[in-house]
Amino acid sequence: MHLRCNNRNCAHTLDLHERVVACPQCGDLLEVVVDAPQAEPAALKRMWLERRMSNASADRSGVWRFRDLLPGPYDPDSLVTLSEGNTPLVHGLKTGKAAGLDRLFFKHLGWNPTGCFKDLGMTVGMTEAKFVGAKIVACASTGNTSASLAAYAARAALSAQVYLPSGKISLNKLAQAIDFGAEIVQVDGNFDAALDQLLNTTNKDIYFLNSVNPFRVEGQKTVMIEMMEQLDWQVPDYVITPGGNLGNTSAFGKALEELKEFGFIDRAPKLIVVQAAGANPFAELWRSGADEITPSSHPETVATAIRIGNPRSWRKALHSVKYTGGFVMDVTDEEIGEAKSLIGLDGIGCEPASATTLAGLRKMQSQGKLDRGATVVAILTGHALKDTDYILKAHAKLKGAHLAEVPS
Ligand code: F0G
Repeated sequence: MHLRCNNRNCAHTLDLHERVVACPQCGDLLEVVVDAPQAEPAALKRMWLERRMSNASADRSGVWRFRDLLPGPYDPDSLVTLSEGNTPLVHGLKTGKAAGLDRLFFKHLGWNPTGCFKDLGMTVGMTEAKFVGAKIVACASTGNTSASLAAYAARAALSAQVYLPSGKISLNKLAQAIDFGAEIVQVDGNFDAALDQLLNTTNKDIYFLNSVNPFRVEGQKTVMIEMMEQLDWQVPDYVITPGGNLGNTSAFGKALEELKEFGFIDRAPKLIVVQAAGANPFAELWRSGADEITPSSHPETVATAIRIGNPRSWRKALHSVKYTGGFVMDVTDEEIGEAKSLIGLDGIGCEPASATTLAGLRKMQSQGKLDRGATVVAILTGHALKDTDYILKAHAKLKGAHLAEVPS
């Protein structure tokens, strides 16, 4: 296993544990090149399920039980884990009706230790940080990455610094980062400015744990592996996911490509990425067919988790969407609000950014682009309790009524 530059024209390779943020030749992002597993797919599928019945710490993690397709090997005692992953697929009942789908499933990544999918990447990123002897770990964040980084750094006994857009993140997420003991750096500007500020710091002791870190991407791959396992390896028609900095989209595409290449599946589900209309540079790129993304300088949306104008992983994400034959779309804040309300009324709940998925499906349905018999997995990225202010304000405005009508 080794690191490789994501730019196919450069393809510079490095040792797996080389401590660099980007390709030293061309500055593009790096990716982990995973070796084909030794065992046959059928044997590995059985072993992954068997590990769910084991009490060993590495097996209890819904990330590390798939370690055959992850970087390593690490000493099992050195893993920084909170038993993340193993999140369910929940059948969408009222939400299924609202999207005109009989087989809508939510993969709820909000039901992870810190309430968000970031834990899946952080367990791998933090384990690698410890492996290379890092003392300080840091990230810029719209809130969730900071909460996750703070928790896993605490477990690894490393110092944590989180760069946050001042006044622009949910207080629930800020409270988590404080609770887990991170140093908070408030940045006057949005997420993009916070990430720039962090990446420009000259402190050589800092280990970066944003999703530009290829080890984070590896952990987030397990969402697709676990989803396929939960569907008994029957490939769904669509996987629909929110898009912000586009690390998750990159991870999902990489996972699907590897699963196909190594013989676990014979085709990939179409990957649909949904952005908020006020923070939609990736959707604009898709619509225009341009070669390069045009960052938006004033991203704005109620879904603060994806209030991002300059997504760093757009090249990887574009490759993922094209590889699967999927597409990119956007939805308004009103559509996000209605979808979030419906997900709540289905007894599931999620934070605003996650509701872009159902909003996107309803938009597809209204345009006649969704077949009732399709099997769809919508990725819910964050827990309802991640942004309680949003819920209370929305309902105060409506004087207790719900935003959306549940279809009968
Ligand atoms: N949903 C939630 C709840 C998020 O927190 C994020 C990203 C996304 C979706 C988008 O995922 O960036 O991989 O496309 N949150 C980051 C953070 C940026 O700092 O917490 P992406």
